[in-house]
Amino acid sequence: MPFPETFLQELSDRNDIVDVVSSYVRLTKKSGANLFGLCPFHSEKTPSFSVAPDKQIYHCFGCGKGGSVINFIMEIENLSFPEAVEFLARRVGMQVPEEERNDPQARRREQLLAMNKDAARFFYDQFRAPSGAPAQDYALRRELSPATVKKFGLGYAPDSWDSLVNAMKAKGYSEGLLLQAGLVRKGKKGGVYDTFRSRLMFPVFDVRGNVIGFSGRILGDGEPKYMNSPETPVFNKSRNLFGMNLAKKTKLGYIILCEGNVDVVSMHQAGFDNAVASLGTSLTPEQARLISRYVNEVVIAYDSDGAGQKATQRAITILEKLDLKVRVLTMEGAKDPDEFIKTKGADAFRNLLAKSEDHVDYSLRSLQSRFDLTTGEGKLDFLKEAEAFIAGFSGKAERELYAMRVSDTVGVSADAVKQDVERLRKQREGRDKRQAEKQEMNLAGRSPVKTIRYENTRCAMAEEGVIRLLYKDPQLFDDVPELSPEEFSVPELGNMYRVLSQQTRAGPVTMASLSGALSADEISLLTILLQKPETAANGRKALSDYIDIMQTERQSREQSDDLLSLAENLRKKKGYTDQDGN
Ligand code: UTP
Ligand code: MN
Repeated sequence: MPFPETFLQELSDRNDIVDVVSSYVRLTKKSGANLFGLCPFHSEKTPSFSVAPDKQIYHCFGCGKGGSVINFIMEIENLSFPEAVEFLARRVGMQVPEEERNDPQARRREQLLAMNKDAARFFYDQFRAPSGAPAQDYALRRELSPATVKKFGLGYAPDSWDSLVNAMKAKGYSEGLLLQAGLVRKGKKGGVYDTFRSRLMFPVFDVRGNVIGFSGRILGDGEPKYMNSPETPVFNKSRNLFGMNLAKKTKLGYIILCEGNVDVVSMHQAGFDNAVASLGTSLTPEQARLISRYVNEVVIAYDSDGAGQKATQRAITILEKLDLKVRVLTMEGAKDPDEFIKTKGADAFRNLLAKSEDHVDYSLRSLQSRFDLTTGEGKLDFLKEAEAFIAGFSGKAERELYAMRVSDTVGVSADAVKQDVERLRKQREGRDKRQAEKQEMNLAGRSPVKTIRYENTRCAMAEEGVIRLLYKDPQLFDDVPELSPEEFSVPELGNMYRVLSQQTRAGPVTMASLSGALSADEISLLTILLQKPETAANGRKALSDYIDIMQTERQSREQSDDLLSLAENLRKKKGYTDQDGN
């Protein structure tokens, strides 16, 4: 059920790609007509993400993603095509044509969200019921105030196998939907039973305020400590953060990243309304990007144990790639922020925040703590590692500053350290360059989009050319009455050809109209191939040359296929006689 082309055209016209992308990516003008920024779809330090205002497309030279403004929203907001259309329509106050709303995927998600909301309400009510005493007692023991319980919508999953199932069925939700949401599980006898039992329930909200899943903590000790909703069409752990729906409203200008749900809840209760936690996994690049949409500074406040320190280093690497200012809070005398606040109070925690150090200082200090600087050997070993670490900074002033600091710590001349660092830097840059060259070589025979295979590059290039010409000049379709999609060696290019010719027959073709008919990978490939130069001068000649190449390559492919199957047949025959002879 495609949207009317006129509607899509107006939608694209009113949602200028530069405006839309700018609310997610800081774009700057480098050279020519295009704008550049750090790609929101993969981690990088130098901008390879480009937006072409004239063509209204984006393309990342690093990861290969690309397409129209609609594809951008689909990718970054994790939406289906009709949902992205609705998102953009709402953005500019356009009415979406009514009959186009019934996208089955979107409907399923809506049902899941509605059910999750009802389930959250059920748990919330159970917490308040007399039978919720165990959860109330537990909350009391953890010093969670009624206001906090309310703010986070905390609930109680009763000690029962079927209370949620029954409540949800009474509201008309099917077993299938409950299973998909992970709220129930299949029993041995064919029925279903409640997943969460006897647990303190933490609903997980996305930044729009939808209940996307649950995290249930056991009341007291026991295993497993937490149970979490599985990945569902609405619950993607790596793209969401616990507490972000509240923390996004903070006026503090930064986010505090901690490990546990309980830490988040207890920090908010103590007045730190900017605390979030990753959902039981280590921080992901998507979560870091989510943070960077709201603030440009993060304080990491992970647990003080060894695991927490390791996780801190990993988080620094991820956050730093997004140009976020990163500080690290170090806690002593408590295992996590919750315990610290409970035993020492909110003011003491505020002090820790004020004292939190820049991530480079933190890393150098934790590196230093691994060596015995009272011995010459310890000093040299530390120096070696510190120099390698400092050589990783791309700014020369930055390298110099930290080289001087390390020289101070160890007691050697600043010049010696600076020289070492610059030598390491050169080595490193040479290595990076060689690696990039090697990668480029390896990619020569492959398509620019990872999931699409180019078996025969020469043929694929010709097929790309056909698509490029036909997109730019639909009149050329008159010249290819006999070409069929099956004649393409790359099925994705064949499909592009099919869609392109269908749509050309129906009216004008745009990236927006193609966005609805092609897969995300196909759109990415199309975006890339459209950017390659093409001589517009003699389109018909170019087209027939490309088709010639396609045909000769196909013939030689068929010939070699024939030879292969001949050989195969011979082998079989031989095998047969051999067996016979035995
Ligand atoms: P913690 O064990 O530190 O939990 O795990 P916590 O939330 O701080 O709880 P308390 O204070 O010990 O009671 C940190 C996070 O890791 C995930 C949860 O998201 C938890 O909040 N986790 C932990 C799980 O997903 N499963 C587990 O079994 C344990
Ligand atoms: Mn914890």
